[in-house]
Amino acid sequence: MDLTFEMVKKNTIFKDRHVLTELKPPGGKFVHRENQKKELILELAPLLSSQRASNLFVYGVPGTGKTALMSYLADELKTHATRDGVPMQTVYVNCSAAKTDTLILLAVLRQLSPKHKIPKAGVNRSTVIRQFLKHLKDEALNLLIVLDEIDMALKSSGDDILYFLSRVKDDPRVRTNVCTVIISNDVKVPSYLQPKTQSSFGRAKIVFPRYDAAELTAILRDRAKHAFCDGVLAGGVIQKIAALEARSGGDAREACELLYACGKTVIATGQNQVTLGVVDSAHKHLESDTLLNVICLLTLHQKLLLRALLECPLPTSTSNAAFSDYLSLCHHAKTPPLSRRRIQSFLVQFDDANLIASQMGYDKSLGKKTRCITIPYPKEVVAKVLARLR
Ligand SMILES: Nc1ncnc2c1ncn2[C@@H]1O[C@H](COP(=O)(O)OP(=O)(O)OP(=O)(O)O)[C@@H](O)[C@H]1O
Ligand SMILES: [Mg+2]
Repeated sequence: MDLTFEMVKKNTIFKDRHVLTELKPPGGKFVHRENQKKELILELAPLLSSQRASNLFVYGVPGTGKTALMSYLADELKTHATRDGVPMQTVYVNCSAAKTDTLILLAVLRQLSPKHKIPKAGVNRSTVIRQFLKHLKDEALNLLIVLDEIDMALKSSGDDILYFLSRVKDDPRVRTNVCTVIISNDVKVPSYLQPKTQSSFGRAKIVFPRYDAAELTAILRDRAKHAFCDGVLAGGVIQKIAALEARSGGDAREACELLYACGKTVIATGQNQVTLGVVDSAHKHLESDTLLNVICLLTLHQKLLLRALLECPLPTSTSNAAFSDYLSLCHHAKTPPLSRRRIQSFLVQFDDANLIASQMGYDKSLGKKTRCITIPYPKEVVAKVLARLR
């Protein structure tokens, strides 16, 4: 079918497709996050009376609503403070873009005083710290700092920023009441913290568990009501998407993306309803797109290893078998192989990136523990990726 702008514009599928990609759910309705919301409100409320609030650590796997709920509550906090005449500022920094303490404080300063021209980079650390402290001494306000994806900063430059922020309130000249919330989807965050920082960020930990199929169904239902025209979604579509996504990680973002992809598929193919078959094909497309994007980023040896794993005819492989298949691919490609150790570390990275699923098990033939590997993708997706790898 020859798709035109006119056809997309006049589609009778989407009422408002942006609802599916927005950070905050329609009407700020967070399904199945009542406890986390309650805990966060209880912890942050003292700021509204200009009292000290504990620093918080928000943890949960991807797509479980951490950023969305925190950003919603930061807005709520501001609204209440304005209504009650309490001086309040909230700032949000994504540490995947600002990985050092200097860059994080620069980002905070830029939001605190947007009128002052603060350079994006090229300023030295002590100048930034001086300016930040000056601000805190000059202004008697309550300040909520949200540092999202904090693991990025911790991995690249340590926890100095958190130590600094946790000690800032001890300076008697500081008039600003600072509360810092760190957010991460990396379980290892506490291990990146020194004991002196752990004591400040380890007390109040708020966990966002992955969603199960029933919870994802509720989240999708809410969005679908606003996003799709009546009758477009066939019976069972939402439950099917929820079941697929619950199995692959319980990620609400991916569930919304799949629903969105279904709508687009229907428009692109000139159909008028999202059926269960459409869900299947949109799902396969999304999975292979994600995988194809990931493999572009792999090095030659990672590609050889992935190819060895995908070409394995057995349902389960082991790290030993993968290594010997990798060696023969290196031989064919006339390239010297990397060490077994490097290949082991690639396997761990693949597992983290969901390219493979693996767990430690006992291999009788070897008489020792080994990594048992399965490929968590349907055959069609594997075939597409292999074609690209080859
Ligand atoms: N309980 C919920 N109710 C409604 N929508 C939700 C809920 N949880 C998550 N979402 C939606 O899922 C999407 C992803 O949420 P969000 O970005 O907050 O996840 P996250 O936990 O920060 O993930 P990551 O760790 O990858 O940053 C957003 O569109 C958000 O609105
Ligand atoms: Mg997030």
